[in-house]
Formats: sequence, C-alpha cells, structure tokens
Amino acid sequence: MSTKKIDFAGLKAQYARIKPEVARRIQTVLDHGQFILGPEVAELEAALAKRAGAKHAIGVSSGTDALIMALMAEGIGAGDAVFVPSFTFTASAEVVLLLGATPVFVEVDARTFNIDTADLDRRVGEVAREGKLLPRAVISVDLFGQPADYGTLDTLCRRHALFLIADAAQSYGAKLGNRAVGALAPATAASFFPAKPLGAYGDGGALLTDNDERAAHYVSIRAHGKGGDKYDIVRLGLNARLDTLQAAILMAKLTVFDDELAARERLAKLYDERLKGAVETPHRVPDSASAWAQYCILVDRRDEVARALKEEGVPTAVYYPRPMHLQTAYARFGEGPGSLPVSERLSERVLALPMNPYLDAAGAEHVCAAVRRAVQ
Ligand SMILES: Cc1ncc(COP(=O)(O)O)c(C=O)c1O
Repeated sequence: MSTKKIDFAGLKAQYARIKPEVARRIQTVLDHGQFILGPEVAELEAALAKRAGAKHAIGVSSGTDALIMALMAEGIGAGDAVFVPSFTFTASAEVVLLLGATPVFVEVDARTFNIDTADLDRRVGEVAREGKLLPRAVISVDLFGQPADYGTLDTLCRRHALFLIADAAQSYGAKLGNRAVGALAPATAASFFPAKPLGAYGDGGALLTDNDERAAHYVSIRAHGKGGDKYDIVRLGLNARLDTLQAAILMAKLTVFDDELAARERLAKLYDERLKGAVETPHRVPDSASAWAQYCILVDRRDEVARALKEEGVPTAVYYPRPMHLQTAYARFGEGPGSLPVSERLSERVLALPMNPYLDAAGAEHVCAAVRRAVQ
C-alpha cells in the first residue's frame, strides 16, 4: 500500500512554476513603492473584468468585504430580508447581520448544492406575506466552483424586485453557457483567499458589475466613502482596498490560470470516471464549466472514510460540517434541526478530495484507489 503523501491544493507546485514571475512582479512594486492602489491594482481590475466579460472589476480586500460592499451600495440594513443558502461558508450570511439586516436561510438543491430556487420563491412569498421584513436581496453562492442557476434566479429576482448578488468566492473562472462568472448577476463578489482557484498570497477579493453607478459606489465605499474630493466623505465606507502586492501576485497567477482550470477539469473527469459506482460524485450542470474550487463526494460514515484516506496519504476536508441555520450565532434566524433537511444531510456526508491542478496521473489514481478501498 502506497503511503505517498498527496498535496491537497498544489500551491507549492504552483509556486515552483511561477516563482520568477512572482519575484519580478513583487520587485516592481517594491521599486515603485505605490503600495496602496498602485498601478497593478488597475491592471488586475482590467484583466479580471475582461476575462469575465463584465464592464467593471473593483479590487477589494477580501471576498467578505466584496459581499458587504455589494449590500451597502444597495442601502440594505435594518428591516430588510436577505435570502442566503444555508449550506455555505459563514461569510455569505455574516455580511447580512453586520448591516443589521436579517438573513433568511434557504434550502439547497440536493444535486448541485446551490440555492434551491423553488424554496427561495416560497420563502420570499412567506416573508412578504408576513410583512415584518422587506425582501430586498438574494446572495446566491456558486458552491465548490459551480455556478448557481442564474437563469431562474434572474427571473425570480425581477418578479420579486430583489437585488441579486453572486457570491462567486469559489467560482471566478467558471462559466454558465457562454457567459463567465462575473457577468451572470448585477453584482458578483469574488475572493482571492490563497486556497481559491485564483488565490493571492494573503486576502483579496473583487466586485464585478456592468453598472457604472454601482461601480463608482464600490470605488467610493472601498476608500472610506470618499467622493470626488478626497476630503469630502459622501457616504459610509470602509477601508477595503486590495493591496498592490496582492494585485501583482494575482497578475503572476493569471499567467497560468487557464492552464490550471483545464487541469482541474481533467482531474475532476478522472475522479468522475474512476469513482463512479463507488461513491456519489458531483453533479454537473449541463453546458457549464466549474472552477472546481473543491471536488466533493458524498459518503456515509464520513469520518471513518476520511481517516482511512489519511492513512493512505490522501488529505481530505469537510466543507461544511454544519449548515448556517444550525450555527450557534445564527440559529435564531432558522427553524432548527430538520427544517432544511437537504443542507443538513449534505453537511453530514460531504467530503472534499484533493483538487490540485499539479497532481500527476499516479497521484490521481492513488486517490481514486484509496477512496474505493475506504468505502468498501
Ligand atoms: C462561499 C464563500 N463566500 C465568501 C467567502 C469569503 O471570502 P474571503 O475569505 O475572501 O473573505 C468565502 C471564502 O472564504 C466563501 O467560500
């Protein structure tokens, strides 16, 4: 039995590949010394917008800040309801509470793990009928890199006059039909957390939009709410700028990003083929391309399976072991255990396998063989 240790995300191998370009980019920043909103930030913003087919990209300090800024720009706050899938990372709901608005947790689809649009429709109707909160926005999450159902979301949000924010923290680089993530919703929040498909060497994020007014708002909010005059503050803002150094690093990463997306897809296909029949593999939305932030299988006896894999040198991770409506800080916004059964069941069964674009064929085969043994 092989005990070769597999690397989960491949960041070291990636660095070995781009080291000279990273060094060159960093040196350029050190030489010009514009550490705040230096030229690399604008360069990256143009590259991000172009790739996504969006008119504007605004570099910000994290995916979480991108989300909160998207809500702030719409004036969302106390008395407003924001609909969020329960099976997600905490930031998707945290930003709602930080602004004094109320998160309404929505079920996810058992196959795609993304927001269940039928349940969303039902919950929006319920909140509107109850009359205590004003339905204002939806934060859809492209979980594990696969775009949510933006066709249906767009129709629903128009019908209910809701603002749609795509939480694309895991999906920058993905596509739905011939449209890229970044151009699928009126506002898209991306994250460049190091482990994301496009990751910096620290925190980072971006907001993408086609709307000029909204883009100007985001630029203002990320720098304390400044207007045209530096010392006239025209709205409440934040310090949420993307560091020049992180922008420079991301420019280096973009030189290999397409190649890595293709490698992620190849690895996902190999997992699909080799694991078919042994475990439940991810469902693919037709005519879409995932960014494969994670490749998650569904298994029973998850802890046992994870332990067996670890013994064979295969690291795994659990995203996420507890849905939002069962988190201590958020339980008061939910209806307790059993209220969102799909989210609850997924959180018990989901297991992420190494998603490393630099994993070689022997390593990938080893992962598959180890998974098949572990679930026997
Ligand atoms: C779905 C989701 N939303 C939001 C975030 C927040 O992004 P960041 O860590 O850049 O603040 C993350 C990632 O960490 C995420 O996975």
